[in-house]
Amino acid sequence: MNENEIFKEVLLTSGEIDLHCDRLAREIERDYVDEDNVIFIGLLKGCHPFMSDLLSRTTLLAEVDYMDVSSYLGGTEAQQEVQIIKDLSTSVKNRKVILVEDVVDSGRTIKKVIDLLKFRGATSVEVVAMIDKPTNRTVDLYPKYIGKELAGEFIVGYGLDYKEYLRNFRQIGIPTEEILEELNEK
Ligand code: IMP
Ligand code: MG
Repeated sequence: MNENEIFKEVLLTSGEIDLHCDRLAREIERDYVDEDNVIFIGLLKGCHPFMSDLLSRTTLLAEVDYMDVSSYLGGTEAQQEVQIIKDLSTSVKNRKVILVEDVVDSGRTIKKVIDLLKFRGATSVEVVAMIDKPTNRTVDLYPKYIGKELAGEFIVGYGLDYKEYLRNFRQIGIPTEEILEELNEK
């Protein structure tokens, strides 16, 4: 589909995303160059283009693994738990974890994952997110590495979906009403 039909407003172009990936890879390399036991953990499914772009820019000796989690909705915030849909295939005990996320919004999901990985014995857990929406944050969480800070609006593209669609675009932006309506009918 034509990108004009998908995005009402593009907030990050493909070129801007590339520059953020270059910078974030340099920042992570600088901090982890002397470490062994580094593992990148991507949160599926949104992490995949970012994970791929980030990894291809680093020369660290690091492992890579993935998790898929979803938050239970309903109940009070404190009662919400993460449901593990796909767990890691590697142990994180005594490892330095770099959690790779498309977006940190309320921060609830990633906070639960951080707690879980620390409980499993990770030495440290830091977050790298292409997009941070700090105004929507409801928990105490500060991603260490951030591509771009945005306001609270709903965005799609570059891994971010609406009803599992629109992950496959190289830009990030606000979707048009027309595309949302079309996907609502699917
Ligand atoms: P949380 O509110 O930080 O727990 O966000 C949980 C998940 O919601 C993120 O990992 C994304 O998968 C998804 N999400 C949050 N904001 C957006 C958005 O603007 N577009 C698409 N998905 C989003
Ligand atoms: Mg996600």
